[in-house]
Amino acid sequence: MTKPVVSMENISYSYENKDVLHAINFEVPQGAFMGLVGPNGGGKTTLIKLILGLLKPDQGAIHIFDEPVDKMKDRNKIGFVSQKANSFNKGFPATVYEVVSSGLTAKIGYFKFFNKTHKEKILQALDQVGMLEYAYENIGNLSGGQQQRIFIARSLVSDPELIILDEPTVGIDYENVKRFYELLHQLHREQNKTLLLVTHDTGTMTEYATDIVCLNKTLHFHGNPEEYTSLTESDLSKFYGHTVNIVSHHH
Ligand SMILES: Nc1ncnc2c1ncn2[C@@H]1O[C@H](COP(=O)(O)OP(=O)(O)OP(=O)(O)O)[C@@H](O)[C@H]1O
Ligand SMILES: [Mg+2]
Repeated sequence: MTKPVVSMENISYSYENKDVLHAINFEVPQGAFMGLVGPNGGGKTTLIKLILGLLKPDQGAIHIFDEPVDKMKDRNKIGFVSQKANSFNKGFPATVYEVVSSGLTAKIGYFKFFNKTHKEKILQALDQVGMLEYAYENIGNLSGGQQQRIFIARSLVSDPELIILDEPTVGIDYENVKRFYELLHQLHREQNKTLLLVTHDTGTMTEYATDIVCLNKTLHFHGNPEEYTSLTESDLSKFYGHTVNIVSHHH
């Protein structure tokens, strides 16, 4: 058995006096494509921040690649695309190339120069997301869906083993959401990346994910897509704390 990429044991977290996560136990197995779902305010982004070591749990232990999260040596093993990342306005003074290169600064430091290998990595990451021809465009001139691809390239440039994406498809049209999932699928299947994806588009996600976790302060569900899609509306409304319409896509 390979070690899990992420493991959380009995994690609780509160902001000031607001309990947001309670007694969370879960693992992201190596090679998983995990979908993290749940209602607004359910604690998904907070959970991600704990995994990234940006917040410290009140209780419990988090291990990333079998190391305590606060002792993690190589941060480049994790690529991250944050919630609402794709919002550069027209005229934002940076090229696509520059935005992607910022994904390497953790590795080489802010004030060092990029060498030839770094340049190759940047262009390779852009090629992977099908955006190579936009390398020297202004980021603000790209559409939301294109910008989102650039952020994925930025998260790929340091060749991470785990990629965490927090609601990357918000504001993206249906066709581009499909293409986006195809890209994730390819990273997962062809490059053996482990993926943790926070999303509300459960219909599309269940076609690609290997594991689904539903979070609303506690973990309400952890299973495979078949188990998730066979949940009844009343199960789901219990998890979400309100009535939901099940969205599914038939082929
Ligand atoms: N910095 C903060 N200070 C205080 N409370 C916060 C802070 N960040 C989040 N919260 C609260 O913690 C709860 C969980 O927020 P979180 O952002 O983790 O939810 P989420 O599941 O990511 O929601 P969404 O689907 O809307 O992105 C919410 O009630 C939110 O108001
Ligand atoms: Mg969130």
